[in-house]
Formats: sequence, structure tokens, C-alpha cells
Amino acid sequence: MSKSISLTQYLLEQQRLHDNIPAQLRLLLEVVARACKRISISVNKGALGDVLGSAHSENVQGEIQKKLDIIANEVLIEANEWGGHLAAMASEEMEDIYPVPNRFPQGEYLLLFDPLDGSSNIDVNVSIGTIFSVLRRDESGGTVSPAEFLQPGRQQAAAGYCVYGPQTTLVLTVGAGVVMFTLDREQGSFVLTQDKVQIPEDTQEFAINMSNMRHWAPPMKRYIDECLAGKDGVRGKNFNMRWIASMVADVHRILCRGGVFIYPWDQREPEKAGKLRLMYEANPMGFIVEQAGGVATNGQQRILDIAPDALHQRVSVMLGSKNEVERVTRYHQEAH
Ligand code: AHG
Ligand code: MN
Ligand code: MN
Repeated sequence: MSKSISLTQYLLEQQRLHDNIPAQLRLLLEVVARACKRISISVNKGALGDVLGSAHSENVQGEIQKKLDIIANEVLIEANEWGGHLAAMASEEMEDIYPVPNRFPQGEYLLLFDPLDGSSNIDVNVSIGTIFSVLRRDESGGTVSPAEFLQPGRQQAAAGYCVYGPQTTLVLTVGAGVVMFTLDREQGSFVLTQDKVQIPEDTQEFAINMSNMRHWAPPMKRYIDECLAGKDGVRGKNFNMRWIASMVADVHRILCRGGVFIYPWDQREPEKAGKLRLMYEANPMGFIVEQAGGVATNGQQRILDIAPDALHQRVSVMLGSKNEVERVTRYHQEAH
């Protein structure tokens, strides 16, 4: 039997081999993993743990918060504020940034997260997750300003997500490929289960919320119409569709077997660039997808090159298998 490698061992060995995971970053990643383990335990308790249902409050995006949105947010903050690896945090569930309190030492990293992704699936026992993005501070020391968070995604030091599904899986990149760890509940640790994750360049599977079709822009409709025409249409092959409504779970499937995930702009709220958030959904997922050989765009440009102007800004997202994302992006560029 081959020896299992824990997250801690993996991070230490990577640092020794490539000098790419300094001590503060390793601590950060281990603390985030520990927080995900705690969230996973709450998710697993479900109705027995009084974690289901609405919290009857609204977040900054005007969305009704679920109990687990708030629990996951608190777990991530509590776990991360005292270790000395962070200067500040930002979250989907908090309007303003959360600087590390003065009583704790200040570190050189900034952490952004979507504490609980796929909230509409919490109460129906379908996969949900946590998404996170790690940035470095430009200048160290002093009070952190919200503007320090507004870095393009290509500057991320690390990104990852944890999917709470039939298994709890942590997926990570520090810019040297993508690795997956599965939570071993008996040992209580994340164990390396896949190295060098690669998304196939071609796919016959797309993920999009089809109920919005009538609101899409023409290039979006063209791409999906061509997929739906199947073997008899211009694409000359049949396509399959999946839509979990948890970005983590849809992206995880794409990392495992390829596919394309799209949440496009639509004309119901034309001034809104999209539904998903750039800083803690599209950027971390874009980084992971690129590191696995895939492509991530907003229909016009690479997600990771977008210069952000607000912490909670929204963006149109097209990501996954290279040839399909390039095609749907080309349709959008040609129409521009
Ligand atoms: P969140 O639960 O963090 O607000 O994110 C939900 C997102 C994303 O995970 C998913 O792909 C999408 O919303 C689903 O949207 P629809 O309900 O419009 O399909
Ligand atoms: Mn989300
Ligand atoms: Mn969320």
C-alpha cells in the first residue's frame, strides 16, 4: 500500500522542493483547511445540528442569509484572526473588510472568501462548498485599506475551494498546478488524493442555468443553440447538460472530467455585469482552472486580468475546457 500524504506534509515538501510556500502561507492554508473541516462537520449534522434554514437577515448583496452562511463566515474569521498570517479578511457575507484586531499580530496576507457557496442547496442535501482567494499586501504594516484588496486575480498567491459533497474535498493551487485532498474523517486530516489535475481541452458537457435563456445576449444564445443542435448541427456532436447551482460542485466536476461552466450577463439587470462575484468566486476559480490547463474569461477578456474596482463587484463567467471557452468567448468578442 502506498503511503498517504497529509496536507501538512505536502505543503512542507513543496516548500523544501520549490521554495514557493513560505511559513505564513503554509499556516494560512492549514488554518483555512481546519476551518473547512469544522464547516464540513456542521454541514454533515444537518437537521440534527440546527444548521439548516434561514437566518432571516440580508447580506450586502441583498440576499437572504442562511444559518450556514453565517456559521461558515464566523468559523473562517475565528480560525484566521489570531495566527499572525493575515492583515485582513473580506467575505461575501460582510460589506466591509475585516482587519485583524489589534490584539493579534499582523501578517502579510489578505484572505477573501465565499464562506458557503451554493446556499440554495443547503436545505436539500446537495453539494455546497467554501471558496477562498489569497493575496499579498503591497506594502506591509499599518492600517489595511479596502483598496489593497483590489488586485487583479493574476496576483493571487493561492486559491482553493472545499466541496462538501458525498466526500469533503479540498482543492488547492499556489500557482504550480492543482492538487486535491480528501478529508479522512477517522484520521481527521486531509489526504492527498490527486496531483497535477488537468482539465481536458475538449468536452461535450456544458453547465448553465437554461431557465434564463430568453434573457441572454445573442452570442450566448448562439453558443448554446449550437450545442443543443447536437450531431445534426454545426458542431456535429451531441452535448450533455449539468447544472448543480453550486459553483463549487460544477467547477469540481469540470476539474474531474472536463466541461464548461457559464454564468453570463443577462438583460434583466443590464447594468449588472453578471451574478457571480469577481473577488471571491470568479478569481479563485479562474486561477484554479488556468492552473489545471483550462481557460476562464468574462466573454471579452481573461478573468485574472480584470482590474477590480469594488470588493463585491460582479462579473460574467465562462470557464473550463480550453476549446469550448475559447469558442464561446470568440462569439462574444465578434459581436462586440
Ligand atoms: P452563493 O450561494 O454563494 O450566493 O452562490 C450561488 C451561486 C453559484 O454557486 C451558483 O452557480 C449560482 O449562484 C446559482 O445561481 P442560480 O440559482 O441563478 O442558478
Ligand atoms: Mn457563491
Ligand atoms: Mn456564498
